[in-house]
Amino acid sequence: MSSRTVIRNGLVITASDEIHADVLIEDGRVVALAATGTPAAESWTAEKTIDATGKYVIPGGVDAHTHMELPFGGTFASDTFETGTRAAAWGGTITIVDFAVQSVGRSLREGLDAWNAKADGNCAIDYAFHMIVSDVNQETLKEMDLLVQEGVTSFKQFMAYPGVFYSDDGQILRAMQRSAENGGLIMMHAENGIAIDVLVEQALARGETDPRFHGEVRKALLEAEATHRAIKLAQVAGAPLYVVHVSAQEAVAEIARARDEGLNVFGETCPQYLFLSTDNLAEPDFEGSKYVCSTPLRPKEHQAALWRGLRTNDLQVVSTDHCPFCFVGQKELGRGDFSKIPNGLPGVENRMDLLHQAVVDGHISRRRWIEIACATPARMFGLYPKKGTIAPGADADIVIYDPHAEQVMSVETHHMNVDYSAYEGKRVTGQVETVLSRGEPVITEREFTGRAGHGVYTPRSTCQYLL
Ligand code: URP
Ligand code: ZN
Ligand code: ZN
Ligand code: ZN
Repeated sequence: MSSRTVIRNGLVITASDEIHADVLIEDGRVVALAATGTPAAESWTAEKTIDATGKYVIPGGVDAHTHMELPFGGTFASDTFETGTRAAAWGGTITIVDFAVQSVGRSLREGLDAWNAKADGNCAIDYAFHMIVSDVNQETLKEMDLLVQEGVTSFKQFMAYPGVFYSDDGQILRAMQRSAENGGLIMMHAENGIAIDVLVEQALARGETDPRFHGEVRKALLEAEATHRAIKLAQVAGAPLYVVHVSAQEAVAEIARARDEGLNVFGETCPQYLFLSTDNLAEPDFEGSKYVCSTPLRPKEHQAALWRGLRTNDLQVVSTDHCPFCFVGQKELGRGDFSKIPNGLPGVENRMDLLHQAVVDGHISRRRWIEIACATPARMFGLYPKKGTIAPGADADIVIYDPHAEQVMSVETHHMNVDYSAYEGKRVTGQVETVLSRGEPVITEREFTGRAGHGVYTPRSTCQYLL
């Protein structure tokens, strides 16, 4: 038995087009688009009609960087797959790619199985996994090949966090050489963690313990140096490279230079680097701890380079790096020692709205909004055109977005399982009204109508964004 829904009278926006069109959905997929008012569109009959007059009809957001339940610094990120994917849906994100973690001394498989078990049956929206590789050895390298074949086609490595996730240059080069052969994409946390640890020790010895010193020791130059080194290692290996959570203008410059040379080097930034700064890290009474993440927030002057990178396509993706820790009991672990503050910010619910505000503010066009938040992350990580666009054959992951609604971001109204908002009091124009995941209503006129377990694991193909 087929079930049909038609969305009428909206402005359909994809990365390439803006058209006044009706959208026909059947059995969870888009089957046709037709200009509103034309005989083709008028001829459609459906069990259900959604009127999108005055609204945008956009592809569901694809957040390619989240950490639900991540173990970090002796605690766990406070959103579970259930609460985090529900919050994502409220914010118009309908697919997440989370990070499964290999523990040192364990296999990739064990890590992936553990993350599958956490997510299975709990997600409100579809999900996929990248793999964090913490321990490169002969076995791990072989496992990478198998994972790529199974649909885990990207691997995160860390030049930061010695003793935890850290890989040295030799381990990085080996993983890159392997990915050059098997089609995987290396995602790099590019900060010189060995040098940062020296500066941390020296700062603490001077009695510099407040959250703002987190930003001072994790220097922009050490992000730029690591970014440069990662690019050169990838070039030696002949592998593509995706640099995650880029925050320093000097790192953007490294990526831009590599791209001008024609290399397959890509950059992601996050809303916190576009909208927040070291001013937040310096907030008194330990409030600055709410803004501790790595790479760190930078002085405001860096934001112009990030916006420019997004406009020139030197940066291609905006993900959240959603990794929430409550202020009470979690961020507080670092009172008296900033290096013990768990790293990460909440944001999975805020990304689509903040980037729409960037459209309102004139930083990017509406199509670029969809490109950096939906289409390119889907292409980059092998989910396109199932995810990231509205086209015949695509999953009916669709957001009805009210571009005129006014909202104030706040912990009082958000749905993330965390006791503060990084954007408390921020006024933005635009709000999600209705969300369909594979045609099923997850949010209906600002009420949650989804369920844990609707979301399914989604295997991915290899990167579809190579030059
Ligand atoms: O501070 C951050 N970004 N926490 C999450 C882990 C990571 O490095 O992405
Ligand atoms: Zn990272
Ligand atoms: Zn360029
Ligand atoms: Zn992350």
